[in-house]
Amino acid sequence: MRTIRDADLTGKRVLMRVDFNVPMDDEGHITDDARIVAALPTIKYILDQGGQLILMSHLGRPKGKRNEKLSLRPVAKHLEKLLNEPVQMADDCIGPAVHEALDHLNSGQILMLENVRFYPEEEKNDPSFAESLAMLADIYVNDAFGTAHRAHASTAGVADFLPTYAGFLLEKEVQMLRQVLENPGSPKIAIMGGAKIKDKLGLVKNFLNKMDVLLLGGGMANTFLKASGIDIGKSLYEPELIDQAREILQMAAEQQKEIILPVDVVVTAEIADGAEGQIVNVHEVPEDQMIVDIGPETVAIFSQKIATAQTIIWNGPLGVYEQAAFARGTQEVAKAIAKAQAISVIGGGDSAAAIHDLGLEKEVTHISTGGGATLEFLEGIELPGVKVCES
Ligand code: 3PG
Repeated sequence: MRTIRDADLTGKRVLMRVDFNVPMDDEGHITDDARIVAALPTIKYILDQGGQLILMSHLGRPKGKRNEKLSLRPVAKHLEKLLNEPVQMADDCIGPAVHEALDHLNSGQILMLENVRFYPEEEKNDPSFAESLAMLADIYVNDAFGTAHRAHASTAGVADFLPTYAGFLLEKEVQMLRQVLENPGSPKIAIMGGAKIKDKLGLVKNFLNKMDVLLLGGGMANTFLKASGIDIGKSLYEPELIDQAREILQMAAEQQKEIILPVDVVVTAEIADGAEGQIVNVHEVPEDQMIVDIGPETVAIFSQKIATAQTIIWNGPLGVYEQAAFARGTQEVAKAIAKAQAISVIGGGDSAAAIHDLGLEKEVTHISTGGGATLEFLEGIELPGVKVCES
């Protein structure tokens, strides 16, 4: 991979794609700035090398139209605070206004472009739009690992027009994820949760090939429980995937891999603020209740496996994490991972949130900034935004 260490940045205009698609509340306050913080090492390096830095990102899904609610202006303000340096904000991402702003940009200064998804050409990877972006700079740097699974103009197309390098975040994400997939110490354990398996079937299969043990929780475990003939009451599951879940369980048995499903669960009649859960054996889920978390016996089994692991990958919460009463299983598993003497990689919003909420960031090896990108990478799919940085 070509990285910015290979580039001469002094006095150059550097167009850098970041993934500043961060969550915000109704007042436009950023509620989780992990993606911005993760891009700081590359930003600082480019500034220190005397580059003129032009940052571009998307925010949300404005569907090709200008939408002031999805302006990157608050993000530029937040970056300014983190860097303690001014960040100029352009009113557009291409065209005369941006060129004019660039005329006043000096080495060591930053200009942030407006949301690239205000143009429909961005997601279509339109070559002339990509060329208009490229005309702003001498060098293209991609540090947007979170968007590397998209072949868009700002994540891939622009590389046809400029010398292209990976930033430190993209490099680190790829190195860490490759390490756990390609060179892992044994035993290798994948912990998977989240609501659905529809988007994660490929991942489960790839994990079955690469890992020794799969620990399953969250909504996705329901479909596997149902496929094993267990009555799961009103719990949500994916009826159309029962056969595939059964095949996966069969495959695991044939390959002598372990898939461990919950043996006890927390159930409730409804998911609402203040709702209380009750712990039951997985074979005793009442017909009018639904599974919302893994139970303490399952936590103990999962924790025991995790304690023996050399390599751990975790993606997805093991219960309804946004409700405090049903977050315990996810939190206990987060603590077990933090305690383990293993290489541990955490991917996905709620799993990462659990680690952050418990202040365990320093106890794990890597927290990925990607959601869909991490899943696709772990599934073995080549990411367009990574490919453009490879020789
Ligand atoms: C993400 O949050 O997963 C990335 O920023 C990509 O966003 P997208 O799913 O809207 O392409």
